[in-house]
Amino acid sequence: MTTPFTPLTLKNGTTLKNRFMKAATSETLGDKYYRPTNTLINLYRNWAKGGTGLIITGNVMVDSSARGEFGNVVVEDTLNLDQLSRWAHAATDNGAQIFLQLNHPGKQSPKTISKQPVSPSAVPMTGDNAFAFNAPRALSRVEIKEIIQKFINAAVVAKKAGFSGVEIHAAHGYLLNQFLSPHDNRRVDEYGGTLENRVRIIVEIYTGMREKVGDDFSIALKINSSDFSDNGFSEEDSLKVIQKMDSLGIDLIEISGGNYENPTMQGVGKGAFFINYAAKVKESIDMPIAVTGGFNTANGIDNAIENNETDLVGLARPLVIVPDLPNQMERGAFTRANVHYLTTGSKSFDKKISSLIGLSYYQQQMERIASGKHVIDTNSAWGALGFSIRKQGLSALLPQRG
Ligand SMILES: Cc1cc2nc3c(=O)[nH]c(=O)nc-3n(C[C@H](O)[C@H](O)[C@H](O)COP(=O)(O)O)c2cc1C
Repeated sequence: MTTPFTPLTLKNGTTLKNRFMKAATSETLGDKYYRPTNTLINLYRNWAKGGTGLIITGNVMVDSSARGEFGNVVVEDTLNLDQLSRWAHAATDNGAQIFLQLNHPGKQSPKTISKQPVSPSAVPMTGDNAFAFNAPRALSRVEIKEIIQKFINAAVVAKKAGFSGVEIHAAHGYLLNQFLSPHDNRRVDEYGGTLENRVRIIVEIYTGMREKVGDDFSIALKINSSDFSDNGFSEEDSLKVIQKMDSLGIDLIEISGGNYENPTMQGVGKGAFFINYAAKVKESIDMPIAVTGGFNTANGIDNAIENNETDLVGLARPLVIVPDLPNQMERGAFTRANVHYLTTGSKSFDKKISSLIGLSYYQQQMERIASGKHVIDTNSAWGALGFSIRKQGLSALLPQRG
């Protein structure tokens, strides 16, 4: 029987020692030159020691002029190779593999960072947080080719630095997700319109990378099961993109979105829908998949692997709260990670700063883990808000995500 501790070999021969995958968690621990700090490196050493088989880094930008958040690391050239190498090696210490997650924010780059962000088309952000983002301009075809080159180049640097692979981030409303979405992408050239055209940028990034890094280096893709929005990226489209990437030889697909373990907690239908979606994906492709979102109990992790519902269990918040979760689970000491709903005590204020509340607590705990401190167990958002304001100033209060 397959258990969470059964190794998994990817198509390219890379063996993951178990089925635990740390999903990407933007740590905002880059320095002012966008290099990984020693704090960031220590954090990853701790995760590797904690027993996780595959570690995905927080998103790293491929272009210093297009950043999603304060504190992003950027990989554009080999100038910071030494520090990147230290990061890669700290995380592979204990037999773990580490993939560098590569991202371009597109229009999801806040006003505090981008005067005029870029996007497939000049379609502004919508929703409650839209006020925090300037309207984007449409990319020219030449600029699209340049961005493709930047992704490819970052993968080449990642390989040189000693990372085991890269993950292309095409989820959560960032640039590549914007290309996939018919709402965001209104282009009439070969990068817009049909699904084949909307996925073209991802295909060109992937094939360009593969040509440069060879077959042994792992390339993964993170993708939404659907955007859950009108005229967004649909489940049918997502499945077709995954099949296309499988046929091109990608090594791993990470499916994000929904809540896997506890459907009823997410409102009727949504979670169940997501489980059905993962099953459909597994039926239709050869390559392994990772499912991320909502796992927080030993039972849930065991069941998903034993029932072959996913090949890897992606964990973001639980591995921040319990960095040695796999080791604890192996000795029978883990039952549940206490993933809190954090609150300031005021529902209306919580709503105004919801994206910050969701991120700042975890960013605070990641810095504490890096310094060998214990994780703070609390429902109050105030300590984490104070942490973010001390670190970033009042601009921390402006949403950085849509
Ligand atoms: C603090 C924090 C930072 C995150 N940063 C990223 C990121 O850089 N890239 C990404 O793909 N997902 C990011 N995510 C989303 C997680 O990878 C994951 O998809 C989501 O938290 C659901 O998984 P979970 O229920 O295990 O936390 C982040 C989540 C948190 C809490």
